Amino acid sequence: MADTRATNGGQDAIGVVGAGTMGSGIAVVALRAGFPTWVCETDAENLDAGIGRIRAFLDGSVRRGKITAAERDEMLTRLHGTTVLEDLASCRYVIEAVYEDVEVKRALFRRLHAVAAPDALFLTNTSTLSVTSIAASTGHEERVVGMHFCNPAPLMALVEISPGLRTSPAALEEAQALAGRLGKTYVVTHDTPGFILNYFLIPFENDCIRALEEGLASVEDIDRAVKLGLGYPMGTFELLDTVGLDVHYAVSMRLYEQLHDPRFAPPPLVRRMIDANRLGRKTGHGFYRYEKGRVFGA
Ligand SMILES: NC(=O)c1ccc[n+]([C@@H]2O[C@H](COP(=O)([O-])OP(=O)(O)OC[C@H]3O[C@@H](n4cnc5c(N)ncnc54)[C@H](O)[C@@H]3O)[C@@H](O)[C@H]2O)c1
Repeated sequence: MADTRATNGGQDAIGVVGAGTMGSGIAVVALRAGFPTWVCETDAENLDAGIGRIRAFLDGSVRRGKITAAERDEMLTRLHGTTVLEDLASCRYVIEAVYEDVEVKRALFRRLHAVAAPDALFLTNTSTLSVTSIAASTGHEERVVGMHFCNPAPLMALVEISPGLRTSPAALEEAQALAGRLGKTYVVTHDTPGFILNYFLIPFENDCIRALEEGLASVEDIDRAVKLGLGYPMGTFELLDTVGLDVHYAVSMRLYEQLHDPRFAPPPLVRRMIDANRLGRKTGHGFYRYEKGRVFGA
């Protein structure tokens, strides 16, 4: 494998593990910030899909005049795809965006410990799991930091940076510096369930769903109130349809299991919508109906 530090003018390389929704977006962020970027997936099919998402985003950026075709082409010369974790050995930073499962993430960091340089920094994009638990018994607990990107990663300005209980002050500082180099503003949070964003957002979303269940107002009127009265860029139900009801259910349950606060428990309507395959945009029907990019009423 080529040593990216040697072949890219000594510039630090970033490895992104998992090229799904978040990993492919994070890779775009790394490419735009000038980093040689490695993307690692489980198999060729998932890797192709992830690389396809990255290319599609960059192509869209060219179409919208955000970058030139030459800039896109230059970024693609810095993009390397692999299904072999060892190819990330030369990466100064490794950002994991694999499934939200503590055992999967921990096993990954254990394997990375065996291949990565001693000065490598390990970032986890977990939304709901404990950074301390993910880092536990991986061999480099002091080098693991939470770096929670918002979806879509290339468009959202903020990351939450969360040190685990065993994260070293130096690793935290390096994560903060990395966020700056990636063009992100950061907030630092303790390693607590949901950090800041989901600690506020999930109960709020569940309150909106409960308000709908109780007949307080229609989907459209709650969204209108949230957008025009509270100044949010998207209505709660628009956002839930974009995230996916299945994802919302899983996130709510994980936070509820940790916090035992009933406001985090997904309301019954969420389960019923999942059973009806009304998952949101991805199935064409959630709180709204979607057809060829157009939105219809609830
Ligand atoms: N989707 C969101 O809105 C969002 C927002 C912020 C954070 N997150 C967090 O980001 C992480 C990823 O979420 P996602 O929505 O991108 O999931 P996703 O299912 O879209 O993608 C996960 C990818 O990881 C790959 N993968 C799994 N195990 C792997 C391994 N060992 N090595 C390499 N690749 C592996 C899978 O093949 C899949 O492509 C989760 O921890 C999630 O909580 C998600």
